[in-house]
Amino acid sequence: MNNIDFLSREEITALKLRQLFHERGYTRVTPGRFQEYDLFAENRSFHNISSLITFMDADGRLMALKPDVTLSIIRNTPDTPDAQRLCYADEVYRLSSEQREYKALSQVGVELIGGDSAAANTEIVALAVESLKLIGNNTALDVSHMGFVSGLFDAMELTENARKSLLEYIHAKDIRGVSETLKTLEIGEESARYITRLAELRGSARECLDNARELILNAETETAFNELSGIIKANNTVNIDFSMVSDLDYYNGPVFRGYVEGVPAAVLSGGRYDGLMRRMGKMNGAIGFAVTLNNLGRVGVQSPTTKSNSNDWLNVALPKGRLGDSARALLTGKSGEEKSSRKLIIEDAEHKFRYFLVKPSDVAIYVEHGAADIGVVGKDTLLETRPDVYELAALDIGKCIVAVAAPAGFTENTDTPLRVATKYVNIAKDYYASINRNIEIIELSGSIELAPLLGLSDVIVDIVETGGTLKANKLNVTSHVADISARLIANKASYKFKSKRIDEIVGTIV
Ligand code: PRP
Repeated sequence: MNNIDFLSREEITALKLRQLFHERGYTRVTPGRFQEYDLFAENRSFHNISSLITFMDADGRLMALKPDVTLSIIRNTPDTPDAQRLCYADEVYRLSSEQREYKALSQVGVELIGGDSAAANTEIVALAVESLKLIGNNTALDVSHMGFVSGLFDAMELTENARKSLLEYIHAKDIRGVSETLKTLEIGEESARYITRLAELRGSARECLDNARELILNAETETAFNELSGIIKANNTVNIDFSMVSDLDYYNGPVFRGYVEGVPAAVLSGGRYDGLMRRMGKMNGAIGFAVTLNNLGRVGVQSPTTKSNSNDWLNVALPKGRLGDSARALLTGKSGEEKSSRKLIIEDAEHKFRYFLVKPSDVAIYVEHGAADIGVVGKDTLLETRPDVYELAALDIGKCIVAVAAPAGFTENTDTPLRVATKYVNIAKDYYASINRNIEIIELSGSIELAPLLGLSDVIVDIVETGGTLKANKLNVTSHVADISARLIANKASYKFKSKRIDEIVGTIV
C-alpha cells in the first residue's frame, strides 16, 4: 500500500479493513445517508430519537441523518436463513457524550445475517480480532454475554430497579456500589455472592471460563456459557469482562469491545442482536461489529509531556488542594504536599507516577479522554457528570454528604414547584424525581448558601462536610441525598493495557 501513504491513518485503516472484509467474502452495502425518521422512532429504545437530526424531504416525509448503520441494513436485507455477509464504510451522526455538539463518526463494519449462530459468533469474533491487529500492535478484545448477566438476575428474581442499579455499578466496575446495592436487597448471602463474583470476573478468557462455569444457575446462564465457551475455544486471545453490560435492549447474546493501545476509548464494538431482528419482523439472527475510525489518528501519538518513558509510568489526574494532597499520600504512602509550587505537572520518578493537578470538577474529563490513566475524584462529581470511566475503589478521604438545606423555620408549599439552587443540577433533578417533587432549578457555580438567604431559591442542594458553612448562614439540613467520598477512577482503555499496575494500586489503597 505504498502509493497511498499520503492518506490519513483513518483512511488507510478504512481501506485495510474493507480489503480484509472483501477477502472474507463480505459484500459491500451502502445504505443512504438519509433514512426515514420512522425507522428510528419505531426502535426508540435503541437510539435517543430526541437527538436525531431531522428534516423534511421534497415529498414531505420526515427524514433523519442516520445515527446507526445496522437498523438500515436489517430493514433492507431479505430475511433468508442462508448466511448473508455484508460490510459497510459509512458515516453516522450522533450527539457527542458531552451533549454539546453533533459529530459525524466514520465507521467500517460487518453484519453476518442468518446462518448457524454458533459458527457466525466465532467467525465474527475472529474477524474482530484480525481487524484490531490491522489498527495497532497492542490490542485487546473483551467479550461478554448478555444472557449471562440477565440469566443470573432472573435466577435471583431481581426487580427492574435492582437490575438497573446493579447494571450501572457492574458497568463501572464499582464493586463497592454492587455490594451496597446487594445489602439493600433481600436475596440471601449466597445469591449476593454470585452477583459479586460476576461483577469481579474478568481477565484472560481461558482463566475466567472455569469461574464463569460456576455461575451457571439456570437454562439461560447455561446457554450463555456454552456460547461464550464456543467463541473462546476458537479465539483464545480474547478476554472476558462482564462489566460490558450496556445496551441490553440492543444486544441479546455475545457482545464484545476492542481496544488499541494509545486510543482512549473502545475502537470496535459489536454483538449479536437477534432480539432487534425479531422486533423488525425478521425470523433470522444476526451478529456484527463496527470500527469507529475517528480517534485512530492518535494511535502511537503521544503528547510532548508523556512521550518519554510512557509505558511503565502512570499518568494520574488529581484535584488541586487538600484532596489531591491526601490522594498522593495514599498512592505513595508519603506526604503529597508540594509547598508553594505553581507546577501543574509533578513527576515522581521513584513510584513512576506523573501527577496532573487540575480543577476537581475536571479530573474525570482528563481520565475519560485518556489524558490521564487514573484519577481521584469526589463521588459527587461522578454522580453529576456520569463520565464513561471505571470506578475502581472508594477511598477513605474526601468524605461528606450531598444534602438539601433550607433556612431555619422554612415550611414548604407543596402547591408550587420548589425552587432549588445548586451546582449539582443532575443530582438534584434525580433526587426530586425519585420523590416525585416538582422543582425549578437555579444553577449556580459557588456560594450556593447565599441563594435562599436572598430569596433566590427556597432550598439548596449542596455538599456538606463539617456543616460550618450551613451553620454560619443559619441553614439546616432537611434531607440527606447521598454519601460522598473520593473514588479512584480509570480510563477504560488504559485499564486494558495497564491493568496489572492499576490493580496493584487498588490493592494497596483499599
Ligand atoms: C463547598 C460547598 C459548601 C461547603 C461545605 O464549597 O459548596 O459551601 O464546601 O463545607 P462545610 O460543610 O465544611 O462548611 P466550596 O468550599 O467548594 O466553595 P463554593 O461555595 O465556591 O463551591
